[in-house]
Amino acid sequence: MTQHLYILTGASRGMGLAMAQQLLTPGNSLLCISRHTHDGLATTAQQQHVALTQWTHDLCDGQGASQRLRDWLQDLDTSAYAGVTLINNAGVIPRIGPLSQADAADLAQALRVGLEAPMQLCAAFLGATEHWGIPRKVLNISSGLGRNAMASQAGYCAAKAGMDHFTRCMALDEALKPHGAKVCALAPGVIDTDMQVQLRAAPAAAFPDQARFAQLQQQGLLSSAPQAASQVLAYLARPDFGEQAVADVRG
Ligand SMILES: NC(=O)c1ccc[n+]([C@@H]2O[C@H](COP(=O)([O-])OP(=O)(O)OC[C@H]3O[C@@H](n4cnc5c(N)ncnc54)[C@H](OP(=O)(O)O)[C@@H]3O)[C@@H](O)[C@H]2O)c1
Repeated sequence: MTQHLYILTGASRGMGLAMAQQLLTPGNSLLCISRHTHDGLATTAQQQHVALTQWTHDLCDGQGASQRLRDWLQDLDTSAYAGVTLINNAGVIPRIGPLSQADAADLAQALRVGLEAPMQLCAAFLGATEHWGIPRKVLNISSGLGRNAMASQAGYCAAKAGMDHFTRCMALDEALKPHGAKVCALAPGVIDTDMQVQLRAAPAAAFPDQARFAQLQQQGLLSSAPQAASQVLAYLARPDFGEQAVADVRG
């Protein structure tokens, strides 16, 4: 019972990739789920002698992904593990603009990846590991935009607000159990990834806050992906993790 198993979505780019790289240390095992695998992770895992599994799965199909996770967890030899953690990190910003101009399919995709799949993966994870008898954690990567409304961001804001609120409900569920999981929806700060490129590239006419995101980058106020990943993983390791169901890494 020495290994810690991490299940991490959105590990192919951005902060998820940085978290995966930092988690590839002896003592950990890692299952990554994204649409793409990352060769560098496989190389690091080999060098570090860490068990790494990378699934390519589109999280628009959260039902399929969660069934696959449930089956995989049920087939594991659990005697190897001292702890297990699910990190729902994958997320997408739908096409930026007022809701009146949103494309229904694009909106559905963002809500599936950002809200439906994390919820279904939480259900599969909590159900399959309930009787493992080891510490369990769920870290849902949320956003300040789940807590503050922004024009032209209705889909993303709704997904993150939904994530925050289902995490609060899940915390109440788990608190009633003798060995319930510790859970938290955590806002990770503003990070220099493809997501920020998308926000800065939006037409200013369709996105009133576009200039603000451009300024954040110009003023050097973005965290790098490795910085944000290490702050988030430090928060996950805190002894009081889960005491607040909804939190912000910036305190
Ligand atoms: N960047 C910021 O400033 C910021 C601020 C607040 C919160 N966040 C949150 O932090 C998390 C990470 O953001 P990031 O900036 O690192 O994003 P990113 O660079 O855009 O990376 C997104 C990750 O999600 C995966 N993903 C996207 N669509 C997917 C799909 N349909 N199925 C499976 N995986 C999918 C991507 O993998 P594939 O393309 O391989 O599928 C990728 O690994 C997100 O939840 C985001 O909302 C970010």
